[in-house]
Amino acid sequence: MTCKRKVELGPRSYSIHIGPNLLSSLGALCSEEGMEGYALLISDDNVDKLYGETAARSLREAGIVATRMVVPAGEESKSHEQLIRIYDAALAAGLERSSFMIALGGGVVGDLAGYAAATYLRGVRYVQAPTSLLAMVDSAVGGKTGINLPQGKNLIGAFHQPALVAADTMTLRSLPLREFCAGLAEVVKYGVIADPSLFDVLERKSPEALMEDDALLEDIICRSCEIKADVVRKDEREGGLRAVLNFGHTLGHAIEQVAGYGVYLHGEAIAMGMVFAARLSEQLQGFPAEDTARLLRLLQHLRLPVARPEVSWPDVAAALSRDKKRAGGTVGFVLAEQLGTVRYGCPVPADVLERVWNESGEPWSRSKE
Ligand code: GLY
Repeated sequence: MTCKRKVELGPRSYSIHIGPNLLSSLGALCSEEGMEGYALLISDDNVDKLYGETAARSLREAGIVATRMVVPAGEESKSHEQLIRIYDAALAAGLERSSFMIALGGGVVGDLAGYAAATYLRGVRYVQAPTSLLAMVDSAVGGKTGINLPQGKNLIGAFHQPALVAADTMTLRSLPLREFCAGLAEVVKYGVIADPSLFDVLERKSPEALMEDDALLEDIICRSCEIKADVVRKDEREGGLRAVLNFGHTLGHAIEQVAGYGVYLHGEAIAMGMVFAARLSEQLQGFPAEDTARLLRLLQHLRLPVARPEVSWPDVAAALSRDKKRAGGTVGFVLAEQLGTVRYGCPVPADVLERVWNESGEPWSRSKE
């Protein structure tokens, strides 16, 4: 079974295909969308070993002249150095304005290759072929692309929508459980911001069982993409509403920064951030305490951290205020009124932030693995 959804953005609209073994028909899917000729297939060294040849063969079979290029796995690859390597490879492979790039991998490869596509020859088309759950339900959809600077993550970037998203769910079989669970944190987020029935689904299955249940997994990814596509359709460039996708991310980003990137997976930091946001929501939006308890239980069931991490409040508060400066002093929290309904841009007094932080239970630590 394959599920297909569309991101409706006028001339920038595109399809999202989700299903098993899609990489074997990647070339045909590209051709259907009018992508032919020269292509650069960008992956990381882990993913390339597992799926590079399947994707390349499928492109060849569709008559596409694809050159493979590989970046080192890990967040460090969202750098100028790797970007220049991609431009070099694209030039050497003869990519023109009518050519395209393909991002085969997780969020790092997707963001990096997407940004290369946004800027090479003032912009060429690209395909997102996500291989991690996090990328399938979040980063591969919506057109946010970018790289990091030593000063912070995603400081350089562009909105550049893909021409196609092809999520092969079989690739999730090779994902470590910890990463799979971190991807589920974003699904929980969709449950809070738009569709509480995702809670019911996730509560019924252990992450291990879910990993093996292809049909259910496909449904969950499909529903997540549908919710994201709807938000992006209404607010492509985050003028307002798109901020709801950041439920749990305000504190989550601060935790990632203060703990040091790599200590927590993104989804783990978001899980802690969602518990924090739920508690703030109780104080400021009348969010029911039993729903915070339900969120907490679900995150624990998904092996995600829920308690305050071992980082100091002054450091976290400083990271939050740096974020605020970057947004022109107007960064607000996304808070929930009830499961399925959130408000964005909510101001939270500093004393409430600190009090809720201090009430967030025993520190929870995870050393770098
Ligand atoms: N990951 C949040 C967004 O795409 O807006």
